[in-house]
Amino acid sequence: MCQLLFEVIEYKVFFISYFANNNSKLMNVNSCFKIIRRVTLLFLLVFFASCLTNVEEDMIELEPNACAEITFAATIKPIIDANCIQCHGSGGIFPELTTHTLIQSHAGSVKSEVVSREMPKQGSLTQDEIDAIVCWVDNGALNN
Ligand code: HEC
Repeated sequence: MCQLLFEVIEYKVFFISYFANNNSKLMNVNSCFKIIRRVTLLFLLVFFASCLTNVEEDMIELEPNACAEITFAATIKPIIDANCIQCHGSGGIFPELTTHTLIQSHAGSVKSEVVSREMPKQGSLTQDEIDAIVCWVDNGALNN
C-alpha cells in the first residue's frame, strides 16, 4: 500500500531544489515559494489519491484470490500426506485421512484441530498451511 510515497518525496525534493536553484535568480522569493507550495499541494493530492486507489485494489484483489489458488490436489493432499497420514492412515487412528471423501467427511474437525494446533500431534504446520486448510474447508472442501 502507498508504494508511491518514496517516489513522491523524491520528486518533491527534486522540484523544490530545481525551482530554488534555477529560478531564484529570475523570480522574486515570493513567487518561488508560491510554486513550491503548489507543487507540494499537487504531490500531496497525488499521494493520498494513490493511497486510496491502492486500498481499493488490495480489497478487490486479495480477498477473493486468497483461496483461489488452493486446490485439494495441489495443496491440501500434500499437507495431509506429509503431516497426518503417519497416524491417520488406513487402519490407523480415527479419523482415516487417506482419500478426499474421508478428509471431506471430517473437514470441520480437521479445520478446528489444525486451527487450534491440536493436530498434527507431535508436529506442527506453518501458518500458511493452516490458512490453506481453512480456506479449502470454508470453500466447501472441494475435490479440486
Ligand atoms: C503423531 C500422530 C498424529 C499425527 C501426526 C496427527 N494426528 Fe490427528 N490424532 C492423533 C490422535 C492420537 C488422535 C486422537 C485424539 C487425541 O489423542 O487428541 C487424533 C485425532 C484427530 C482428529 C479427531 C479429533 C476429535 O477429537 O474429533 C482429527 C480431526 C485429527 N486428528 C486430524 C489430524 C490432522 C488434520 C493431522 C495432520 C495435520 C493430524 N491429525 C496429525 C494423532 C495424530
